[in-house]
Parts: sequence; structure tokens; C-alpha cells
Amino acid sequence: MTDWLEKVYSATGDIAQLETAYDGWAEGYDDSVAALGYTNPALVSAMFARLMPDVTGPVLDAGCGTGVIGEILSLAGYAVIDGIDLSRGMLKRADGRGVYRSLARAVLGEPLEIETGTYAGAVSSGVFTVGHAPASAFDEIARLLSPGGVFVVSITDPAFEAGGFGEAMTRLERDGIWESAAVSGSYLPLPNAEAEHRHPGKVYALRKQG
Ligand SMILES: C[S@@+](CC[C@H](N)C(=O)[O-])C[C@H]1O[C@@H](n2cnc3c(N)ncnc32)[C@H](O)[C@@H]1O
Repeated sequence: MTDWLEKVYSATGDIAQLETAYDGWAEGYDDSVAALGYTNPALVSAMFARLMPDVTGPVLDAGCGTGVIGEILSLAGYAVIDGIDLSRGMLKRADGRGVYRSLARAVLGEPLEIETGTYAGAVSSGVFTVGHAPASAFDEIARLLSPGGVFVVSITDPAFEAGGFGEAMTRLERDGIWESAAVSGSYLPLPNAEAEHRHPGKVYALRKQG
């Protein structure tokens, strides 16, 4: 299973390579991350529920993968969940859960064909990291949120440093687009992974202004 981690983390920003890697991993992804003790979906969902208790508004799962978060939020009562992801293989698995209103292939970091202010909330688990979704995609996520909407995202500490995520969050806060709503404590997203992939991280919550 570490082979798959090697593959997806060696793509370093090449979208076609990343897509091929995730398409190949899609079938075994859930078992792989379960064995690695993957904690991001639980942390992201808990933070989202804390800050967005209204379960009626539409939620975007950005980089939904096989739909782990969609299933958690659906079971918790969130009624309308859309997912986007660059991997058709992962999207197919997500579709199999039957919890998403819509699923579409889209690349975070490119303009998204979604109307401004569509979502009451957005979640992203394990997606904003080096070689995956870039910090520049925060602008599009912020655009898609309605005023008061919350974006909850997991980011490992090394990615936060290397990927310019902190700078992007601060810029959007300074420009009055969103404000920091909460930051989780430190945890290990992949506690059972080998040392090179066992980095601590946090969940960040941003609230759209206006
Ligand atoms: C580690 S998986 C996380 C999936 C799911 N959110 C979870 O927590 O189980 C990363 C997902 O992000 C997707 N992804 C990576 N970079 C992306 C990008 N730039 N745009 C859209 N999806 C992306 C991958 O295809 C993959 O499904």
C-alpha cells in the first residue's frame, strides 16, 4: 500500500500522472487507507459539523475520492452533497456509495464551472498537499461559498509550509474574503504509515465573509 502513496506523491503537480495513479488506486483505496489508520475524514467531518450545524445547505466535497467524507456527512444528516475530483476511477467508487447529489470530474487549481455562491459549506480531506491541489485553488473554493459558508480543509504541516497554504489563507483573510473560524489540534493523518509519510497535520476552518 505504501507503493500507492509513493505513486501519488511522486506525481508532483502533473495532473495526468496523478489521475492515472488515483485511477489505479481507486479499487483498493478504502482498504489501503483503513490499514494506514487514515484519520482526516473523521477530523474534517467533526470540525465541519461543529461549525455548520445546519444540515440543509449544499456541501461541496472537493477532492471527494471514493466518497469517505460524503458517506460520513450523509449519515450525520447532511442532505445535499456534491463531489468533485480529478480521477474518474475515484469518482466511480464515490458514486457507488449513493450519497452524492452530483459527482463531476474537475481539477482544483483550474477554474471550476460552478456558479458563484452555490455552497453553504465545503470540505476537503487529504487533497490540499504537495503535488495535489494547489493553494491557488482556495480562491475558487471561496468564490463557490455563500456568505457565512464554511470551508474545512486538512493540511499536513510539511505541506502547509512547502505549499504556500498559510500565505494563501492569510491573503484571502486580509482581502476580506474569509476569516479563520478554527484550527484543530495536531494529529497524525496516517498514523500507521512509514515514517516518511507519517507527518502531523491540522484541520483549518475558514468562514466566508459578506
Ligand atoms: C488522498 S485522496 C483523498 C480522498 C478523500 N477526500 C478522502 O479523504 O478519502 C486525494 C484525492 O484528491 C484528488 N485530487 C488530487 N489533486 C486534485 C486536484 N488538483 N483536483 C481535484 N482532485 C484532486 C485525487 O484524485 C484523490 O481522489
